[in-house]
Amino acid sequence: MTVTPTPRPPATLDVDTLLVPLAQPVAEVERDALASVFGPAFQHALDDISDEVGSLATFYTDTVDARRVVLIGCGPANDLDAETLRRSAAAAAEPLRTADATSAAFVMTTLPMDARPATQALVEGLMLSHYRYTAYKTDSDTPAFKQLLIAYSEDHDEAAVEDGATRGQHLVEATYAARNLVNQSPHEKTARDLAAAIEASGQAHGYDVDTWDKQRIETEGMGGLLAVNRGSVEPPTFSTLTWNPPDAVNAKPIVLVGKGVVFDTGGLSLKPTKDSMDFMKADMGGAAAVVGTFEALADLDIPLHVIGLVPATDNRPGGHAYVPGEVVTMHSGATVEVMNTDAEGRMLLADALSYAQRYEPELVIDLATLTGAAVIALGHYASAVMTCDTGNPAERLYALQRAGERTGDRVHPLPLYDDYKEQLKSDIADLKNVGGRPAGSITAGKFLEHFVDYPWMHLDIAGTAFLSSSQPYQPKGGTGAGVRLLADYLDHYAEAKQGGAAKKSA
Ligand code: BES
Ligand code: MN
Ligand code: ZN
Repeated sequence: MTVTPTPRPPATLDVDTLLVPLAQPVAEVERDALASVFGPAFQHALDDISDEVGSLATFYTDTVDARRVVLIGCGPANDLDAETLRRSAAAAAEPLRTADATSAAFVMTTLPMDARPATQALVEGLMLSHYRYTAYKTDSDTPAFKQLLIAYSEDHDEAAVEDGATRGQHLVEATYAARNLVNQSPHEKTARDLAAAIEASGQAHGYDVDTWDKQRIETEGMGGLLAVNRGSVEPPTFSTLTWNPPDAVNAKPIVLVGKGVVFDTGGLSLKPTKDSMDFMKADMGGAAAVVGTFEALADLDIPLHVIGLVPATDNRPGGHAYVPGEVVTMHSGATVEVMNTDAEGRMLLADALSYAQRYEPELVIDLATLTGAAVIALGHYASAVMTCDTGNPAERLYALQRAGERTGDRVHPLPLYDDYKEQLKSDIADLKNVGGRPAGSITAGKFLEHFVDYPWMHLDIAGTAFLSSSQPYQPKGGTGAGVRLLADYLDHYAEAKQGGAAKKSA
């Protein structure tokens, strides 16, 4: 896919369909200008779109080379923001698909928003919505969507449109990368396959990747990762991603940790097969989000030193599988009494988190499809976020929430009161790996916190990484949750460090 801004008049563009986003009410000058381009059919179509976000009206006209025009209702101008625009643009993916369109152009109108975030949101909404995972479809002969033009006029700041288009394209592609990894069949997604995919991503986007094999993981004493791996016929991997541009503004790195459970059967505490195991190929959604974020960091050239850590294995009930009652010595030296082998994510994340201490990180963020309880608490419209008290928790939490509102990749906080630690007390070891039914997401977070001694945020993306029914611009399947959120958060983090010039006040 290419996204190309152009100053050429919409009438002469050689694309399948023109897309015209309009906030209500449409100003008279704009209406007249559009009517003179599109002819009388325009006025009728305009009457057909409502105040509703994503309301569409399609018409055909000889006055433009594309002939086919889709008006996109973006709701009331007063309510317009990036997320509304994204959801509006998302609605236009359907008519493009129905028409087997391979190209389209947005006709930039005078939306009451800066051109840069407006362009970015239009590109994101349309292309994120247009995504389908077709790798295993043998009858997929629909031509691929190749080209998106952004037709701007002298009323728009050319540099802002260019920047918005570039950012939108990179963020869409990074999100696609995460979705593709999540959607891939688990038989082609062993821990070693995942590590190879990360290495390929690093090669393609220009960041470093170093992968440890099982022997090295043993040398490092990653007891949690090794315990989970014992029931598997496949060895575990531990991948370290590095993005460290010469102009990095942080002295100490930011570390991103992603849960890489490539398939979660539950292990000996086997999940009931019906329904609950069906989508456990998505249990590496945290790892996928880290990979997507690294692609975005590199493509957008964000001036931060960032390390990514991806512990990976499947969780299966094999002959050597770890068992309930077993006490595991973790990478940190702490001992964990395993009461449920299905609480495996925290076992390997804990090792990665204690290993992260060697970087003396400024901040660590982990992403994990960690608990079914997060789905119960927040459903599929927000990820849960938890943070420790070290550093400035309120500030980083608020910054992440704002990134969530800007990107639509939302987070909502849960508390980590020390009272919850009570639930993790073990009779024979330092702690248990489960805390019972109450506050399941929090006790999981509390478990992880035990292995952390730096500013840290934990994102439970169990409800957001994978969808069984679509949302605006999120088709069924892997969503890439966390990618646009973290890219935006880190971009603003770098800006603030640089002295906070308000040059990108999206
Ligand atoms: N991968 C699951 C969590 C999950 C559930 C992700 C649903 C996506 C959708 C995790 O490893 C798990 O099994 N968690 C258990 C923990 C419990 C045993 C304490 C859970 O949530 O039931
Ligand atoms: Mn599990
Ligand atoms: Zn899991």
